[in-house]
Amino acid sequence: MKQSWLDYFRHNAWPAMPWDDPYRLTREERSAVASSIPQFQLGEGSEGNAFVQRARRFAGDAQFIPTLRLFIQEEQRHSASLGRFLDLHGIPRLKKHWLDQAFRRIRRLAALELIVTVLVTAEIIAVPYYRALRNATQSPLLGALCGQLLRDEAAHLQYQAGTLARLRLGRSAIRRALTELFHAVLLHGTVLVVWMEHRSLFLRGGYTLTMFRRESEHELSTVHLATYTYNAPVRLNAQPAWTCNSKEDSL
Ligand SMILES: [Fe+2]
Ligand SMILES: [Fe+2]
Repeated sequence: MKQSWLDYFRHNAWPAMPWDDPYRLTREERSAVASSIPQFQLGEGSEGNAFVQRARRFAGDAQFIPTLRLFIQEEQRHSASLGRFLDLHGIPRLKKHWLDQAFRRIRRLAALELIVTVLVTAEIIAVPYYRALRNATQSPLLGALCGQLLRDEAAHLQYQAGTLARLRLGRSAIRRALTELFHAVLLHGTVLVVWMEHRSLFLRGGYTLTMFRRESEHELSTVHLATYTYNAPVRLNAQPAWTCNSKEDSL
């Protein structure tokens, strides 16, 4: 049976997490994650106001904004869960960070497509990051959290690829190619900045810069491919065709 993204987000309940896990991070593990997780915890907590405001373009699609709000709530659940992990381990949270502020500023000023492009860039980066984080410690709780975060982020990439596909409907091949080139440049710049900020976490998680870059490029090409294979509706206001068959299919 077909499932809309609205239904997907409504029903995407998390499995129980082992919050009472007695494992304590070693000194090395703690020093690798303590300066890294707080940045992602902060970034996941965006309220998405600019996104919702610009999404009025899809006003004829009654499901678009309710779906977007549930998506934002899911990101906030990521932030809350990472925050709870930090609190359990006595690792201070960040109130602000220049990279998070830069992303938020772009989102505040940008048009809808750039907001989605920036967001997709962050979600692409999150995939190798959470894989590295899962490998970086022996913590069963952090492992379980990363597993669920990775499942959610994979679905988010499909969901946002559908949004990009709708925004690019009818665009010429040259304009699409230029758009994709811009996104690739943005991604490469972001990979370098994130690598500089989180190098020790990535290394501890078994990632070199080349591996991080290749995985990010692979995720981006999957997103771009999804925007072409997307079964587009005839009009923006038509019933969304960006549906998935089941929760498992969307992961
Ligand atoms: Fe997230
Ligand atoms: Fe996400």
